[in-house]
Amino acid sequence: MADHILVAVAWPYSNADIHVGNLTGSYLPADIFARYHRLKGNNVLMVSGSDAHGTPITVKADAEGVPAEQVYQRYHARFIELFQKLGLNYDLFTSTHTENHAKVSQAIFLALKENGYLYTEEQKQWYSESLKKFLPDRYIEGTCYICGYDNARGDQCDNCGNVLDSSQLINPRAKADGSTPELRATTHYFIDLGKLEPQVVKFLESRKSYWRPNVVTRSLGWIRTQGLRGRPITRDLDWGIPVPVEGWEDKRLYVWFEAVIGYLSAAIEWAGISGDKEAWHSWWTEASARSYYFIGKDNIDFHAILWPAELAGIGETFANIFEGKSGKSLNLPYDVPANEFLNMEDRKISGSRNWGVWGLDFLERYDPDPLRYYLTVNMPETSDANWDWDDFVRRNNNELVATWGNLANRVLSFAYRNWDGKVPWPGELRVADETLIKTVDAGFDSVGKLLEGVKLRAALGEAIRLAGEVNKYLDEQAPWSAIKTDKAGAATTIFVALNAIDSLKILFAPVLPHTSQLLHETFGYSEPLFGEQYTETKKDNLGAHTVLRYRTGAATGSWAPSNLQARTKLQEPKPLYRKLEPEIAEEERKRLGNLREAE
Ligand code: MF3
Ligand code: ZN
Repeated sequence: MADHILVAVAWPYSNADIHVGNLTGSYLPADIFARYHRLKGNNVLMVSGSDAHGTPITVKADAEGVPAEQVYQRYHARFIELFQKLGLNYDLFTSTHTENHAKVSQAIFLALKENGYLYTEEQKQWYSESLKKFLPDRYIEGTCYICGYDNARGDQCDNCGNVLDSSQLINPRAKADGSTPELRATTHYFIDLGKLEPQVVKFLESRKSYWRPNVVTRSLGWIRTQGLRGRPITRDLDWGIPVPVEGWEDKRLYVWFEAVIGYLSAAIEWAGISGDKEAWHSWWTEASARSYYFIGKDNIDFHAILWPAELAGIGETFANIFEGKSGKSLNLPYDVPANEFLNMEDRKISGSRNWGVWGLDFLERYDPDPLRYYLTVNMPETSDANWDWDDFVRRNNNELVATWGNLANRVLSFAYRNWDGKVPWPGELRVADETLIKTVDAGFDSVGKLLEGVKLRAALGEAIRLAGEVNKYLDEQAPWSAIKTDKAGAATTIFVALNAIDSLKILFAPVLPHTSQLLHETFGYSEPLFGEQYTETKKDNLGAHTVLRYRTGAATGSWAPSNLQARTKLQEPKPLYRKLEPEIAEEERKRLGNLREAE
């Protein structure tokens, strides 16, 4: 029976372009995992969207002197462009700035309130008399009370690196106009994490045996040493989702409180536009469904603690409030395979210093699959990884081109030339032929198990190893010379090698979908391996917003060994990858830190 798999992908803040660190941290592994499950025939729902609210967006908007809405729309459009070019197939990529998301978020707030997990408390917050508003921490500067640095941000000191309590800043000033703010009392809603702690601990303990150790150890360790305490979930802001309580019109829901709700609201939005409003239940309230959250390590607390706490706290109450009827509780995360960070040439990626490689920029000079390849063999699954341009060129040339691309091209071209553009008719299979076929077929199990366990880097390594086995087999059988003396024997070898390549095409497809599709066509299949993506613009009371969607259509790929038949007509083979000149590493390094190109 087909499983229901929710692929929940981190929501990028729509205030900056996406770089390779973001891609390998969460968006790419999610897509690889989703494609594998689609090939397996499982029911995948892969959702995410732009994280449109909060101070990251308003700070950028203020700096540019434009409305927050405009900043969000600009980067949202660029995310969609990148995801299409890189082949990240979201069933729905939407945003948090939709009426649907606001409604779902407010229903969850009310469910938590009804169940007694919210309380209000007064806090002291900086207020600017001249600006007539409360100032979030990022809007304040002053002297660091730890090291004396006089340009510290309200939430953090860039000199000593400490996280700061903004209310203790010395000589605070408003970033916007330099005026001196005052501490004023303001009341906020808090989520009572202390009360939810036993449920969160129970949840984490139940996942301990199979989660990545860094994720579960970090979360449980944090709870053990600090214990969970109430956290404010409203803010004095005007950009964001209104608090659904009378008298709270001036405040908004805290961006993290509502952004994580996006995984649910996007599934509900997807169901609505797919024509079956109830369809989201299969991923959210069926106990057998599994949900995987693809995020970077800086988001672990929000996904392993805050979001599960929200889900546990709302229990079955969400259904009452949202649908006006009784219903089941919502599924807790099945796995949170968070990745570590990717550095750039041994330094931290930084937007302000233009130290990084940005997705859209990269794709102006190179193809998508080499990027997907390099980010996967180098994926920071268990520790931080490093992008090194020499290493990028080397791996492209020695692995992707030499081991896989040339193998496919050499065999297909040889078959195409010598057997009339068709798969040759084999003689009886010899031991070496049987052995190779068995070896490659076993990859559907070994590579599949690794993908299933979200060990994507090892899965790709295993597929490359199998391509190496085919190369070895060809070296031994040497059909290129055998054809002159024993054409029937060469035909058998080429038949077997073509079958192996047709299988490898599937084993590589989750990581290298574009070139696997090209091979698929060369083998004469007329239907595509995967479905297709398209965009759609929708309108609601908050305005128009464009979403990225995925249509399964006539997709034919399946996670199973090749069944390629003799006499199948081939298309003329084309090279899958380009060899790169070693000099490009130096050229690319020169772009790093070049502030002229930075925003
Ligand atoms: N916007 C956050 C970031 O870029 C990630 C949010 S994930 C979510 O770090 F689920 F909370 F939306
Ligand atoms: Zn300091």
